[in-house]
Amino acid sequence: MSWRGRMNHSILRYPGSKYKIRKTIESVLKKNNLKLDLFVEPFVGGGSIFIYLLENKLVEKVIISDKDNLIYSFWKVLFKNPTVLIKFIKNVSVTTNSYIKYKNIASEPKRYNITTLAKTCLFLNRTSFSGIIAQTAGPIGGKKQISDYKIDCRFNKQALIKRIKEISKYSNKVTVLEKDWQTTTKFALSKIKKKRKSKSLFYFDPPFYFKSEKLYRVTFNENDHINLSKYLLRFKKNWLLSYDNAIFIKKLYKRKYRTIHITVPYTVNHKVKKKLKEIIITPLNI
Ligand SMILES: C[S@@+](CC[C@H](N)C(=O)[O-])C[C@H]1O[C@@H](n2cnc3c(N)ncnc32)[C@H](O)[C@@H]1O
Repeated sequence: MSWRGRMNHSILRYPGSKYKIRKTIESVLKKNNLKLDLFVEPFVGGGSIFIYLLENKLVEKVIISDKDNLIYSFWKVLFKNPTVLIKFIKNVSVTTNSYIKYKNIASEPKRYNITTLAKTCLFLNRTSFSGIIAQTAGPIGGKKQISDYKIDCRFNKQALIKRIKEISKYSNKVTVLEKDWQTTTKFALSKIKKKRKSKSLFYFDPPFYFKSEKLYRVTFNENDHINLSKYLLRFKKNWLLSYDNAIFIKKLYKRKYRTIHITVPYTVNHKVKKKLKEIIITPLNI
């Protein structure tokens, strides 16, 4: 799929394709006869799922959250003040010097305001190898820019601006938080309580079990994976969880839930281009 195709749903690039997850969620909604009034994404990252649901009119309201302050800032500013990002895209020079500047900002985020962090997130995401904004990643084309693919090859200014305009139209439907998944879930539950007949779906996409420290700025240790499983095994709402295909993770959930295997092209290393599997776990009928 071309990068234009991928950008159909999100604006941030994130490792792993979410195509199968989107299709699964769509079919879960149909099979369980769910017309959602609330969709909750406590590990929002690149956010392709909530955007897909909004654009296809499958949900009324959305709560998204990420503990990474760069990711949070990006979504918050996109929905609150998209013109700032549009101006930034128009004016920024997409060069390795800018890359170094934004990499430095990302290494000391507490010193900067939310607008600067939002710009930094967008810049690094669209100019880094595989969209990885963790410190480990480098620019597309390498520091010397001798590859066929240069640093600006995924920074099509017109397309990015168009997408920001399209997505930001949904600002009145989206709440953006910078919280741990548990606080976000509690917050969403408190909203649901107020609306008695609310139909909601929680989509959990935590950091992968393998190599996640290379992919994300905020990651999970084994205890975090265990805590999430303990919570979800008792969670009474409609939920769906996706992970990389790790035996450790499958063991946590196996007692209670069907595990569905799906193949998702995993494109972090284009040279190797391994086909790894991602799993989906849910109490819902899929
Ligand atoms: C697998 S990624 C999510 C990918 C996303 N669903 C997408 O489609 O692009 C995991 C995300 O969880 C965030 N994260 C890590 N620990 C977290 C926590 N304790 N609470 C909330 N978010 C967390 C990371 O910053 C990262 O963006």
